[in-house]
Amino acid sequence: MSTKQKPDAVALLKEDHRKVEKLFESFEKAHDAGKKQALVREICTELCIHAIIEEEIFYPACKDRIKEEDLLEEAYVEHDGAKVLIAELLDSEPDAEFYDAKVSVLSEMIKHHVKEEEKRSEGLFAQAKEAGLDLENLGQRLMERKEALKDEFQHGANLPSPHTRSFTGHELVQDTPVQASAASR
Ligand SMILES: [Fe+2]
Ligand SMILES: [Fe+2]
Repeated sequence: MSTKQKPDAVALLKEDHRKVEKLFESFEKAHDAGKKQALVREICTELCIHAIIEEEIFYPACKDRIKEEDLLEEAYVEHDGAKVLIAELLDSEPDAEFYDAKVSVLSEMIKHHVKEEEKRSEGLFAQAKEAGLDLENLGQRLMERKEALKDEFQHGANLPSPHTRSFTGHELVQDTPVQASAASR
C-alpha cells in the first residue's frame, strides 16, 4: 500500500499477512544457509512489527466493541506463543538442530492465527467491521506506527527481543537436548 492512499486498517493488516505467507513460502524453497537466515530475520521483523501494531492499536480498539471478546484474548496468547519461537529463531543459526522445524511450526501457528483474524463473518476483522470501528482512522495510525517501527528496527538489524502481552515471562529450562538423550540410550 502506498503511503499516498488512504489506508484501511483491515486491508493494511491483511496485506501484512500476505507478505509473511510469501516469505514463509520462499523459506520452504531456500537451501542456502545465508538465504534462509536472511528470510527468517525478515519474517521475524515483519511479525514483530505486525504484532506490535495490532497489540498497541488494533486490538485495544476492538476491546468492548466486538461480539466475541474470547477471540481477542486468544489472539494475544497466540501472538505470545509465536514470540517464543521468534526469540528462539533469532538466537540460532540455520544449521542448528530443529531450525527448520521451528520455522515450519511458526508458519503453522501464524496460518491458524491469520485464519482466526480473517474468517468470514465471525473472524476478528469481520467483527471489527460489524462493530463499526473507524477503520480509516485506525489504518492511518497503524501505518504511521508501522513506519516508525520499521525505522527503529532497521530491517531487523536492530530487532529487540519480542515483548509478551499475555505471557507473564516464566523462564524455560532446557532439559537434555534430544540428540544427547538419544545418544545415551
Ligand atoms: Fe494479524
Ligand atoms: Fe494478530
